[in-house]
Amino acid sequence: MEPRGRFITLEGGEGAGKSTHARHIRDWLQQRGRPVLLTREPGGSPLAEGIRELVLRDWDEGLAPQTEALLMFAARDAHLRATIRPALAAGIDVICDRFIDSSYAYQGAGKGVSIDTLHALERMTLADLQPDLTLVLDLPPDTGLARALRRGQANRFESESAAFMARVRAAFLARAAADPTRCVVIDAAVDEAAVKAAVIQTLEARL
Ligand code: TYD
Repeated sequence: MEPRGRFITLEGGEGAGKSTHARHIRDWLQQRGRPVLLTREPGGSPLAEGIRELVLRDWDEGLAPQTEALLMFAARDAHLRATIRPALAAGIDVICDRFIDSSYAYQGAGKGVSIDTLHALERMTLADLQPDLTLVLDLPPDTGLARALRRGQANRFESESAAFMARVRAAFLARAAADPTRCVVIDAAVDEAAVKAAVIQTLEARL
C-alpha cells in the first residue's frame, strides 16, 4: 500500500464549534510533525467554493431537496478530485469541516431525500474512500443555533425549524452509532476547553 494521509472529518449541527476544533486538530497533528490540510464542505476547492456560494444562497424559484443534494455532491466530487484525494495520496493528513454525514443528516433526514439516492451519489463520488475518523460534535439544536446566530446572519440552513434540527441531530447520532469504528460522538454542549480536551483524548486514542 502507498503511504496515505489520514482523513478526519468533523460533523454536527449548527454552532457546534466544528471549525474551532478543526483548527485544534490541525495544531495537534502539526505538533506531531504531520503535514496537514484543513478544508471544508461545501467548498474546499475553487470550483466547490463556487458551488457553495450557489447552494447557500436564497433563490426565488426555491431549491428542491434533490437539486440541493446534487449540488452538495457535485461540490464534493470537485473537492475530492482537486483537493482531498491528491493530498491524501501525497501523505498529507486532511481535516474536513463537514463531509458525507452532513448530506445524510441535512438532505436526507432534514429534507427527505431518499437513502437510496444518497447511497447512489455516495458510491459515485466517494467510491471506496471513507474518513478514517469522524468526530460528531453533538449538542441540543437550540444551544447551537444561539451560538451560530451570535456569529452573524443566518444562512438558509440556520433558518430551518426546530423539528428539522432535531432530525439532523438524530441522524448524526444514528450514523455514528451504526459505524463506531469510524465515528466518535463528543458532547459539545460543555465549554470549549472541555470539548477540546475530549477531542484531543479521542485523537490520542484513535490515531
Ligand atoms: P456553514 O456556514 O459552513 O455551516 P457550519 O458553520 O454550521 O458548518 O454552512 C454549511 C451549511 O451547509 C450547513 O448549514 C450545513 C449544510 N450542508 C448540507 O446541508 N449538506 C452537506 O452535505 C454539507 C457538507 C453541508
